[in-house]
Amino acid sequence: MKPPRIALFDSGVGGLSLLNYLNQNLSGVTFLYYGDNANSPYGNKTKADIFSLAFDRLLYLSTFNPSVVIFACNTLSLTTLNEMSKLFDFPILGVFPPVESLMKNDCRTVLLSTQRTSEFYSSVSGLEVHPLLTLAGDIENNALSLSKICLTKHLKYIKEGMDNLILGCTHYLLLKNEIVDHLKPRKVYDGASNTLNMLAKYLQNLKTPVNHLENQIYFIGNSASFNKKIWFSVVKNIKI
Ligand code: DGL
Repeated sequence: MKPPRIALFDSGVGGLSLLNYLNQNLSGVTFLYYGDNANSPYGNKTKADIFSLAFDRLLYLSTFNPSVVIFACNTLSLTTLNEMSKLFDFPILGVFPPVESLMKNDCRTVLLSTQRTSEFYSSVSGLEVHPLLTLAGDIENNALSLSKICLTKHLKYIKEGMDNLILGCTHYLLLKNEIVDHLKPRKVYDGASNTLNMLAKYLQNLKTPVNHLENQIYFIGNSASFNKKIWFSVVKNIKI
Protein backbone atom coordinates (compact mmCIF):
# COMPACT_ATOMS: atom_id res chain seq x y z
CA MET A 1 0.00 0.00 0.00
CA LYS A 2 1.32 3.44 -0.97
CA PRO A 3 2.04 5.92 1.84
CA PRO A 4 -0.56 8.68 2.27
CA ARG A 5 0.25 11.73 0.20
CA ILE A 6 -0.18 14.95 2.16
CA ALA A 7 -0.04 18.18 0.17
CA LEU A 8 0.68 21.38 2.08
CA PHE A 9 -0.25 24.71 0.53
CA ASP A 10 0.78 28.15 1.77
CA SER A 11 1.24 31.56 0.18
CA GLY A 12 5.00 31.03 0.46
CA VAL A 13 7.59 29.92 3.00
CA GLY A 14 5.36 30.18 6.10
CA GLY A 15 3.86 26.72 5.69
CA LEU A 16 7.35 25.23 5.99
CA SER A 17 6.94 25.79 9.74
CA LEU A 18 3.91 23.49 9.71
CA LEU A 19 5.73 21.00 7.49
CA ASN A 20 8.52 20.96 10.07
CA TYR A 21 6.09 20.26 12.90
CA LEU A 22 4.19 17.54 11.03
CA ASN A 23 7.40 15.95 9.78
CA GLN A 24 8.69 15.75 13.36
CA ASN A 25 5.51 14.10 14.57
CA LEU A 26 4.54 11.66 11.82
CA SER A 27 6.35 8.89 10.02
CA GLY A 28 5.87 6.88 6.86
CA VAL A 29 4.05 9.58 4.89
CA THR A 30 4.81 11.54 1.73
CA PHE A 31 4.63 15.33 1.95
CA LEU A 32 4.27 17.58 -1.08
CA TYR A 33 4.97 21.25 -0.36
CA TYR A 34 3.51 23.97 -2.54
CA GLY A 35 4.21 27.65 -1.88
CA ASP A 36 2.66 30.34 -4.02
CA ASN A 37 5.62 32.64 -3.37
CA ALA A 38 5.04 34.70 -6.52
CA ASN A 39 1.70 35.88 -5.11
CA SER A 40 2.72 36.11 -1.47
CA PRO A 41 1.59 37.62 0.86
CA TYR A 42 -2.06 36.59 0.81
CA GLY A 43 -2.99 38.26 4.08
CA ASN A 44 -3.83 41.70 2.66
CA LYS A 45 -5.60 40.49 -0.49
CA THR A 46 -9.36 40.59 -0.94
CA LYS A 47 -11.40 37.52 -0.15
CA ALA A 48 -12.28 37.21 -3.86
CA ASP A 49 -8.60 37.25 -4.86
CA ILE A 50 -7.65 34.66 -2.23
CA PHE A 51 -10.60 32.52 -3.32
CA SER A 52 -9.53 32.55 -6.95
CA LEU A 53 -5.85 31.86 -6.12
CA ALA A 54 -6.88 28.98 -3.86
CA PHE A 55 -9.18 27.46 -6.46
CA ASP A 56 -6.52 27.53 -9.22
CA ARG A 57 -3.82 26.15 -6.94
CA LEU A 58 -6.08 23.34 -5.73
CA LEU A 59 -6.76 22.38 -9.34
CA TYR A 60 -3.00 22.14 -9.78
CA LEU A 61 -2.58 20.14 -6.55
CA SER A 62 -5.36 17.77 -7.60
CA THR A 63 -3.11 16.57 -10.45
CA PHE A 64 -0.82 15.04 -7.80
CA ASN A 65 -3.63 12.86 -6.43
CA PRO A 66 -3.30 13.96 -2.82
CA SER A 67 -4.85 11.88 -0.02
CA VAL A 68 -5.43 15.15 1.78
CA VAL A 69 -4.55 18.82 1.28
CA ILE A 70 -3.57 21.02 4.19
CA PHE A 71 -3.88 24.77 4.03
CA ALA A 72 -0.64 25.53 5.87
CA CYS A 73 -1.83 29.09 6.18
CA ASN A 74 -4.23 30.64 8.67
CA THR A 75 -5.44 33.16 6.12
CA LEU A 76 -6.40 30.52 3.55
CA SER A 77 -7.96 28.30 6.22
CA LEU A 78 -10.23 31.01 7.57
CA THR A 79 -11.07 32.64 4.26
CA THR A 80 -11.66 29.75 1.90
CA LEU A 81 -11.55 26.33 3.54
CA ASN A 82 -15.32 25.85 3.86
CA GLU A 83 -16.04 26.82 0.26
CA MET A 84 -13.08 24.91 -1.22
CA SER A 85 -14.00 21.74 0.68
CA LYS A 86 -17.28 21.71 -1.22
CA LEU A 87 -15.57 22.08 -4.61
CA PHE A 88 -12.94 19.33 -4.42
CA ASP A 89 -13.28 15.65 -3.75
CA PHE A 90 -10.22 15.27 -1.51
CA PRO A 91 -10.37 16.37 2.12
CA ILE A 92 -8.90 19.75 3.00
CA LEU A 93 -7.64 20.48 6.51
CA GLY A 94 -6.47 23.82 7.81
CA VAL A 95 -4.52 25.58 10.51
CA PHE A 96 -6.47 27.75 12.96
CA PRO A 97 -5.27 29.88 15.85
CA PRO A 98 -6.47 28.28 19.10
CA VAL A 99 -8.44 31.32 20.25
CA GLU A 100 -11.66 30.08 21.87
CA SER A 101 -10.03 27.70 24.35
CA LEU A 102 -7.87 30.53 25.71
CA MET A 103 -10.71 32.98 26.29
CA LYS A 104 -12.15 31.20 29.31
CA ASN A 105 -10.17 32.89 32.03
CA ASP A 106 -9.36 36.43 32.84
CA CYS A 107 -6.00 36.66 31.08
CA ARG A 108 -4.38 39.04 28.67
CA THR A 109 -4.45 37.11 25.39
CA VAL A 110 -2.89 38.63 22.28
CA LEU A 111 -3.34 37.40 18.70
CA LEU A 112 -0.85 38.36 15.99
CA SER A 113 -2.07 37.67 12.48
CA THR A 114 -2.54 38.95 8.97
CA GLN A 115 -5.22 41.51 8.15
CA ARG A 116 -7.70 38.92 6.77
CA THR A 117 -7.25 36.58 9.75
CA SER A 118 -7.66 39.43 12.23
CA GLU A 119 -11.10 40.21 10.82
CA PHE A 120 -12.37 36.82 11.94
CA TYR A 121 -11.41 37.51 15.54
CA SER A 122 -12.02 41.23 15.93
CA SER A 123 -15.29 40.65 17.77
CA VAL A 124 -13.99 38.10 20.28
CA SER A 125 -14.51 39.78 23.60
CA GLY A 126 -11.34 40.22 25.65
CA LEU A 127 -8.99 39.19 22.83
CA GLU A 128 -6.35 41.73 21.82
CA VAL A 129 -6.01 41.40 18.07
CA HIS A 130 -3.04 42.90 16.25
CA PRO A 131 -3.04 42.69 12.45
CA LEU A 132 0.59 42.96 11.31
CA LEU A 133 0.23 44.29 7.80
CA THR A 134 3.74 43.75 6.53
CA LEU A 135 5.44 41.12 8.72
CA ALA A 136 4.55 38.06 6.58
CA GLY A 137 5.83 39.88 3.47
CA ASP A 138 9.00 40.89 5.28
CA ILE A 139 9.62 37.25 6.31
CA GLU A 140 8.91 36.09 2.78
CA ASN A 141 11.36 38.60 1.30
CA ASN A 142 14.09 37.92 3.86
CA ALA A 143 13.62 34.18 4.27
CA LEU A 144 17.34 33.59 3.75
CA SER A 145 18.37 36.31 6.18
CA LEU A 146 15.67 36.46 8.84
CA SER A 147 17.98 38.24 11.29
CA LYS A 148 17.75 41.33 9.07
CA ILE A 149 14.10 41.82 9.99
CA CYS A 150 13.52 44.67 12.40
CA LEU A 151 10.81 43.28 14.69
CA THR A 152 10.61 46.51 16.67
CA LYS A 153 9.12 48.12 13.59
CA HIS A 154 6.36 45.50 13.38
CA LEU A 155 5.63 45.10 17.09
CA LYS A 156 6.11 48.64 18.37
CA TYR A 157 2.44 49.20 19.34
CA ILE A 158 2.15 46.02 21.37
CA LYS A 159 2.79 46.25 25.09
CA GLU A 160 5.05 43.42 26.27
CA GLY A 161 4.19 40.94 29.02
CA MET A 162 1.00 38.99 28.29
CA ASP A 163 -0.41 35.70 29.58
CA ASN A 164 -1.04 34.14 26.18
CA LEU A 165 0.45 35.00 22.83
CA ILE A 166 -1.12 33.37 19.78
CA LEU A 167 0.91 33.30 16.57
CA GLY A 168 -1.89 33.28 14.01
CA CYS A 169 0.20 33.16 10.85
CA THR A 170 2.49 30.31 9.88
CA HIS A 171 5.12 32.77 8.62
CA TYR A 172 5.55 34.18 12.15
CA LEU A 173 6.68 30.78 13.45
CA LEU A 174 9.92 31.22 11.54
CA LEU A 175 10.64 34.04 13.99
CA LYS A 176 8.97 32.50 17.02
CA ASN A 177 11.94 32.83 19.40
CA GLU A 178 12.61 36.41 18.37
CA ILE A 179 8.94 37.42 18.78
CA VAL A 180 8.86 35.77 22.19
CA ASP A 181 12.02 37.62 23.24
CA HIS A 182 10.37 40.85 22.20
CA LEU A 183 6.92 40.41 23.73
CA LYS A 184 7.74 38.24 26.74
CA PRO A 185 4.52 36.22 26.95
CA ARG A 186 4.01 33.59 29.66
CA LYS A 187 2.79 31.09 27.07
CA VAL A 188 2.84 30.89 23.27
CA TYR A 189 0.36 29.08 21.08
CA ASP A 190 -0.18 28.38 17.40
CA GLY A 191 -2.43 26.15 15.33
CA ALA A 192 0.06 23.40 14.45
CA SER A 193 -0.80 20.84 17.13
CA ASN A 194 -4.48 21.13 16.30
CA THR A 195 -3.72 20.44 12.63
CA LEU A 196 -1.59 17.45 13.62
CA ASN A 197 -4.49 16.02 15.68
CA MET A 198 -6.94 16.43 12.79
CA LEU A 199 -4.47 14.88 10.37
CA ALA A 200 -3.64 11.96 12.68
CA LYS A 201 -7.35 11.20 13.04
CA TYR A 202 -7.77 11.33 9.29
CA LEU A 203 -4.80 9.01 8.71
CA GLN A 204 -6.18 6.57 11.28
CA ASN A 205 -9.46 6.43 9.35
CA LEU A 206 -7.53 5.67 6.16
CA LYS A 207 -6.38 2.53 7.97
CA THR A 208 -2.96 2.69 6.35
CA PRO A 209 -0.60 0.45 8.30
CA VAL A 210 1.55 2.55 10.61
CA ASN A 211 5.19 2.33 9.70
CA HIS A 212 8.24 4.08 11.04
CA LEU A 213 9.93 4.74 7.76
CA GLU A 214 11.34 8.17 7.11
CA ASN A 215 8.93 10.61 5.46
CA GLN A 216 9.45 11.60 1.85
CA ILE A 217 9.30 15.34 1.17
CA TYR A 218 8.87 16.82 -2.31
CA PHE A 219 8.69 20.47 -3.26
CA ILE A 220 6.38 21.30 -6.16
CA GLY A 221 5.32 24.32 -8.22
CA ASN A 222 7.20 27.27 -9.69
CA SER A 223 8.98 28.09 -6.45
CA ALA A 224 9.89 24.50 -5.56
CA SER A 225 13.64 25.05 -5.58
CA PHE A 226 13.40 28.23 -3.49
CA ASN A 227 11.20 26.56 -0.86
CA LYS A 228 13.48 23.54 -0.81
CA LYS A 229 16.44 25.82 -0.18
CA ILE A 230 14.65 27.61 2.70
CA TRP A 231 13.60 24.23 4.11
CA PHE A 232 17.12 22.87 4.22
CA SER A 233 19.01 26.02 5.11
CA VAL A 234 16.59 27.72 7.52
CA VAL A 235 13.50 25.87 8.68
CA LYS A 236 14.85 22.42 9.48
CA ASN A 237 17.20 24.03 12.01
CA ILE A 238 14.41 25.80 13.87
CA LYS A 239 12.89 24.00 16.86
CA ILE A 240 9.19 24.79 16.56
N1 DGL B 1 1.30 32.10 6.18
C1 DGL B 1 -0.01 32.60 5.96
C2 DGL B 1 -0.87 32.67 7.20
O1 DGL B 1 -0.72 31.82 8.04
C3 DGL B 1 -0.15 33.74 5.02
C4 DGL B 1 0.64 34.96 5.25
C5 DGL B 1 0.45 35.85 4.06
O2 DGL B 1 0.66 35.39 2.95
O3 DGL B 1 0.05 37.01 4.27
O4 DGL B 1 -1.74 33.48 7.32
